Amino acid sequence: MNKEKICNAVESIRSKTDFVPEIAIVLGSGLGKLADHIENPIVIPYEEIPGFPKPTVAGHGGKLVLGKVGESNVAVMQGRVHLYEGHSPENVVLPVRTLCMLGIKILILTNAAGGINPAFAPGELMVIRDHINLQGNNPLTGPNDNSFGTRFPDMSEAYNKKLNDMIVECALENGIDIRNGVYAGMSGPTYETPAEVNMLRIIGADAVGMSTVAECIAANHMGIKVCGVSLITNMAAGLSKTKLSHEEVKETADKAAEYFIKLMFNVLERVK
Ligand code: HPA
Repeated sequence: MNKEKICNAVESIRSKTDFVPEIAIVLGSGLGKLADHIENPIVIPYEEIPGFPKPTVAGHGGKLVLGKVGESNVAVMQGRVHLYEGHSPENVVLPVRTLCMLGIKILILTNAAGGINPAFAPGELMVIRDHINLQGNNPLTGPNDNSFGTRFPDMSEAYNKKLNDMIVECALENGIDIRNGVYAGMSGPTYETPAEVNMLRIIGADAVGMSTVAECIAANHMGIKVCGVSLITNMAAGLSKTKLSHEEVKETADKAAEYFIKLMFNVLERVK
């Protein structure tokens, strides 16, 4: 476990500000503009934080933004790294572990995902009620650091039910439709084959993506409450007539940005 690296990252952030975030949100595709709504933001580019892995995908920035949303002290991760970029599972979760050490109590994960549940449609939001880790690895593999958490963390409520229910309430109050479902995390970077999507549906997944599960595992390891929302940017392979493309994903994410941001902003204001 790269504890020294994480401590260095924490120290570097501490040397710039004494702001203590209570809640962190990781922004997926299309949500980047949420950071613009932070009051008096403290902006730290990832390259200024030693050891922070750099995102390489177009459409993913790379900044940590600290500041207030309403009464809440919030840390916004504008951009994340993925396994398919070549980062180790340990490095994928390094930013989240850094935020946990900075003092957050709640982690909100957002992402773009392909819809598997045939009742879903592109543009819809889904509260992540649970996940299936099919990334082929686990960020806790290797010697366990007991100061972070236990060797065998319980994952029976990996996504906090009360927080999930609060997200649904926020959506209803804002007139935003929201679904509930299980997120399957794949390694990517290929989109799934139709046979894989069929398998995912059979094993109980409602949506599929290439992020989130490792971050959720690391935060649970450290005793942090997690919740999450997927934006369904497309129907998964084989469920629509068109082929999948990153352009389609970005286009839907941009179109949904307004209500996705509105919802997450409300959630940040309310959560405590
Ligand atoms: N599959 C995997 N990841 C994704 C998808 C998908 O269909 N859409 C957006 N991210």
